[in-house]
Amino acid sequence: MRIIIVNDYAEMSQRAARIVASHVILKPNSSIGLATGSTPLGMYNALIDLYNQEYIDFSKVTTFNLDEYYGLGSANPQSYHYYMYNNFFKHINIGMANVNIPYGMCKSIEDECNRYEEKIEEVGGIDLQVLGIGRNGHIGFNEPDIKFEAKTHMVNLDEDTINANSRFFKSIEEVPRKAISMGIKTIMRARKILLLAVGKDKAKVIYQMLYGKITPELPASILQLHPDVTMIFDKEAASLL
Ligand code: GLP
Repeated sequence: MRIIIVNDYAEMSQRAARIVASHVILKPNSSIGLATGSTPLGMYNALIDLYNQEYIDFSKVTTFNLDEYYGLGSANPQSYHYYMYNNFFKHINIGMANVNIPYGMCKSIEDECNRYEEKIEEVGGIDLQVLGIGRNGHIGFNEPDIKFEAKTHMVNLDEDTINANSRFFKSIEEVPRKAISMGIKTIMRARKILLLAVGKDKAKVIYQMLYGKITPELPASILQLHPDVTMIFDKEAASLL
């Protein structure tokens, strides 16, 4: 495991973008797993800059997002489809046929989860998975106590996650209570993992993830067992290490 501690959010975003970019440059048809939330926004902006400077070509890249709220369609501004399109995809030359995000309005959850897993298999697995981390230790939307063996599945969101994510909605009542998320097993099968975290409110969970027991109670603790993880923290997120 490589841990990189940087001064601030801007530096984290630049470092992360360069790691993603180097994958795409070395393997133009890479499959990249992507995350949402506030943390990776700066990385997406830095990647867009690198694309505009003609360092990277995304035309052969395939992407897989970690998760989507159940019940939100792509046109809903709170959906992760909307977030990804507006913050990243529309600014680069990725083919939208190569973009994969669980579909929150699917008719059958089981079929959607199976379809998602099959799609990942079809391209030979995920080369590099980008992750953020929830304050309760979730990765994707894998809340505490979800089995480590889980593949893409339906999740009931925790109170803590609903509270934390309510900042993106008009009121807490509007936050969906369910989501479709890649499972821990799906994430752990990625060849490389890049986890990003900033800010004081992540310091405790970062400490627990790295030094605590490996337990489904803190889903990100499983990353201690992954053979190729890079984590980038700002000084505040790393303040308890
Ligand atoms: C959400 C997402 C996660 C993300 C987490 C942290 O719940 N499903 O993938 O890592 O929030 O978000 P933030 O980066 O805004 O702290």
